[in-house]
Amino acid sequence: MQTKPVHPLFGIEVDGVDLRDATPDCLYPEIRDLFERHSLVLFRGQHLDDDEHTEFSKLFGPLEDRSNIRMDGPPKISPVSNVEEDGKLLDPKDQKLLNLKSNMLWHTDSTFLPVPALANILQARVVPSEGGATEFASSKAGFASFAPELQERLRHLFFHHRYGHSRAKIDPELAKQALFTMWPDQKWRAVWTNPVTGEESLYIASHAFAVEGLDPAEGQALIDELTEAVTKPEHIYSHQWTPGDVIVWDERAILHRGTPWPYEQPRTLVSYCVSARDIDGLNTVKPQAA
Ligand code: OGA
Ligand code: MN
Repeated sequence: MQTKPVHPLFGIEVDGVDLRDATPDCLYPEIRDLFERHSLVLFRGQHLDDDEHTEFSKLFGPLEDRSNIRMDGPPKISPVSNVEEDGKLLDPKDQKLLNLKSNMLWHTDSTFLPVPALANILQARVVPSEGGATEFASSKAGFASFAPELQERLRHLFFHHRYGHSRAKIDPELAKQALFTMWPDQKWRAVWTNPVTGEESLYIASHAFAVEGLDPAEGQALIDELTEAVTKPEHIYSHQWTPGDVIVWDERAILHRGTPWPYEQPRTLVSYCVSARDIDGLNTVKPQAA
């Protein structure tokens, strides 16, 4: 297994592994260690089928069903795509395309769920001739760049998260869909400490709409300011996908966003998120731990 950095501040690329060989005792422990320390791990040339992608993702934790966020059935792999099941491209006005556009706001996946995500395991299947990169920013490096007084203030703050909040920024009608209104608001500590490394990250997302104890406008202004501070150009790694690329990232320590592409071209990525557990530090971001 050879490694090289993908960005001066975070991320590592691993060469010489076939992810189909990973098991709890073989390869996974090394990959998990890289994930804890570097926040983003890139593998090229994998071409996992759905079952192989499922098996690899399950190593990180319980699978979340991103295709049916109600989570009332067995988890399925989630297409992140502008191609319909019948092979037709989405109409530019289709709400599903608007939903993809909501992915273009800096976010962390699933902060609006009662159990948020630990990781996203995303693979490229079909890529457009231009555009469609995914951008990643380290909220661990971002947090480390803050003044000690701000860091200390953030350690005691909680953000409220709501799925519909990020959708309403793109289209108020989209935000009214049942999928985006079905979860009660969630409240998480603004700083997530990695229990393995002890490193702290800002835990924020496009879904964050309020700060505990601040009036709504003040809270949103602080959320916007902090998001901007951790997504400065020098904190960003932009990944231009090639089919077969797999990226695993740490939702506790990375913000990400999609970027546009010519929508008359197909782009299909496939993804699983896995849920965070107390061993990942979930207990420490819950309000009860205040
Ligand atoms: C995601 C996501 C962005 C992209 O899969 O969670 O935000 O570039 N994807 O498709
Ligand atoms: Mn996402």
